[in-house]
Amino acid sequence: MSNLSVNYMGLQLRSPLLAASSGLTSQIDKVIAYDKAGIGAIVVKSLFEEQIVSEAEFLNNQSQNYPESADYLHHYIRHNSIAKYLKLVKEVKDSVSVPVIASINCYSMGEWVEFAKEIQDAGADGLELNIYSLPLTVSKRADEIENGYLDVVGAVAKMLRIPVAVKIASNYTSLPGFVNGLKSRGAKGVVMFNRFYSPDIDINKLRIIAADAFSYEEEYLRELRWMGIVSALVPGIDLSASTGIHTGTTVIKQILAGATTAQMCTALYKKGPNAIVQALEDLHLFMETQGFESVADFKGKLNYSNIEHPEKFERVQFMKSFGLK
Ligand SMILES: Cc1cc2nc3c(=O)[nH]c(=O)nc-3n(C[C@H](O)[C@H](O)[C@H](O)COP(=O)(O)O)c2cc1C
Repeated sequence: MSNLSVNYMGLQLRSPLLAASSGLTSQIDKVIAYDKAGIGAIVVKSLFEEQIVSEAEFLNNQSQNYPESADYLHHYIRHNSIAKYLKLVKEVKDSVSVPVIASINCYSMGEWVEFAKEIQDAGADGLELNIYSLPLTVSKRADEIENGYLDVVGAVAKMLRIPVAVKIASNYTSLPGFVNGLKSRGAKGVVMFNRFYSPDIDINKLRIIAADAFSYEEEYLRELRWMGIVSALVPGIDLSASTGIHTGTTVIKQILAGATTAQMCTALYKKGPNAIVQALEDLHLFMETQGFESVADFKGKLNYSNIEHPEKFERVQFMKSFGLK
């Protein structure tokens, strides 16, 4: 049987497939089932910076009526929210045999940075920072925002002994440059990419509605291109593919492009733990057919620096097919 084990950010995983952070990974019966199915690691549902911030705002409003109780309430509610998350991390850790990666969804430097240490003390084997804020002003430059993200990563990575991964958006002007910045600030892994909640429009009711939260099976090509390029241009950091990982075939493609791991979310919602079993079987079959003994044997084999015609990753316009004759 081929060896599926990988080293992801210094964590020894029995397989390259991770359960992505979602509501599913806050349920103990689910994470136990994923463990049984052969998952390599669990990324726990995120704690949101907004949760802490909105509680603080609520308390500020309260304090205008009862100023003397504000400090107490602030301390109590913050502690309560954190305590709940730490309990979840501990419970997941106690229930599974594989590494557990906690997750914080954040957008700025704040109180939660200190909180990262408490997550480590709760037994998390790693921390994934899901960093993004939608720019809603014309007065901020891209580099100001990006430098803010890098500062957050630097502060958290410096504070922790466990490895820190950063889950990023795809819309950077220079993605390789940004990932290189994350690496230089101490990130050990980068998850490419987060898939955001998106608004859509109902033209009959003339209102904004939520678009589908789930990805489609074919939705992995943008991720694949960047995986191939970033893994070649920024060596020395582990990359994890996220978005569109529905089958073993996509896991294989992402590893060939340079991923160390791949994360599943929608497929777990739609097919349950069987999606993991099936993907790992496909991975074994592929490796046996191709004669690869370990994942390292084919990781990055088709990335930007390892292929004969790197322009295949570079081409972005359809000039030849659709250009004027
Ligand atoms: C219902 C739902 C909840 C999610 N919650 C989180 C979360 O708490 N933290 C996070 O980093 N990503 C979260 N995600 C994003 C997923 O981890 C993943 O990156 C995204 O869904 C793309 O992967 P997929 O194509 O396998 O679904 C969530 C996604 C869904 C659909």
